[in-house]
Amino acid sequence: MTEQLRPDGSLRHLLTLDGLPREKLEQLLERAQQFVTPLGARPPASRTLAGFTVANLFTEPSTRTRVSFELAAKRLGAQVVNLEVQLSSRVKGESMLDTVYTLESLHVDAFVIRDAEAGVAGLVAAHVAPHVSVLSAGEAHLSHPTQGLLDALTVRQRKGRFAGLAIAIVGDIRHSRVARSAWHAFRTLGVGDLRIVAPPALMPDAAEFAGCARHTQLAPGLRRADVVMMLRIQKERFGSADLPDGEQYFAAWGLTPERLALANPEAIVMHPQPMNRGVEIASAVADGPQSAIRDQVRNGVAVRMAVLEEVLTSTRIA
Ligand code: NCD
Repeated sequence: MTEQLRPDGSLRHLLTLDGLPREKLEQLLERAQQFVTPLGARPPASRTLAGFTVANLFTEPSTRTRVSFELAAKRLGAQVVNLEVQLSSRVKGESMLDTVYTLESLHVDAFVIRDAEAGVAGLVAAHVAPHVSVLSAGEAHLSHPTQGLLDALTVRQRKGRFAGLAIAIVGDIRHSRVARSAWHAFRTLGVGDLRIVAPPALMPDAAEFAGCARHTQLAPGLRRADVVMMLRIQKERFGSADLPDGEQYFAAWGLTPERLALANPEAIVMHPQPMNRGVEIASAVADGPQSAIRDQVRNGVAVRMAVLEEVLTSTRIA
């Protein structure tokens, strides 16, 4: 796999949180926290990345991730190009790499890539010029590293620590890149009681999620949890497997206020969005006092600012 860190320890690419040292995660969270401002206050703006160009290459739908990468880059003074991939030459058969080489010639310094196929961001990272960085914005069902960081930042803000916490990740773990990146982040940051909670059909293979307790029933999975992270059923990744019916799923697995009461009274509820209200989560919970879902969105911009700043300001060829 492409090396993500430079010899001096700085981040060059961000393709996965798997294998990144704890100090690196903590440093990025610390920096991201400095970019967090309360709603209503003017967000931080600087010229740190003036003269840099960031290209968003998304071949899968995205609202929050794409917009927050764009705002993060702009708030640091970079220019941003958003490639509408449906309209681009990729549909004419031009490979992703040729698109990347073209943009590289146009002085793009960082590529933000989301693709339903595994390995695309890594392939690009292995071929770009030494001064260019690649950031994954979601790779198949495998990883979503900036989401993992923003989830960790949200927990850090609300709980002030990772050690001693019980975190339950609930729902379609099998198809979720969010769950995989959260697992990498939380275990690296020292969360001891990490649980994956899902019906058997949505559980990942036994070889995955080492160190997590597995629950195939909701109630024991939620009991005394400090953080409950709910996930959407990833319909687009089901193939021929049977898609659960929304109403039946909610009856057995939906997070309602009554079920949330099984968790620690101070528990927070998270969801990466898009949410399916009335399927994996009740509106009363999503919009309720324990919800940290809007914080997650806000933290997404801060985390992406921290990552862009690190990869771009420590890369330059003299
Ligand atoms: C997630 C994704 O794309 O993996 N969305 C996001 O980036 N916040 C989760 C999802 O689609 O369910």
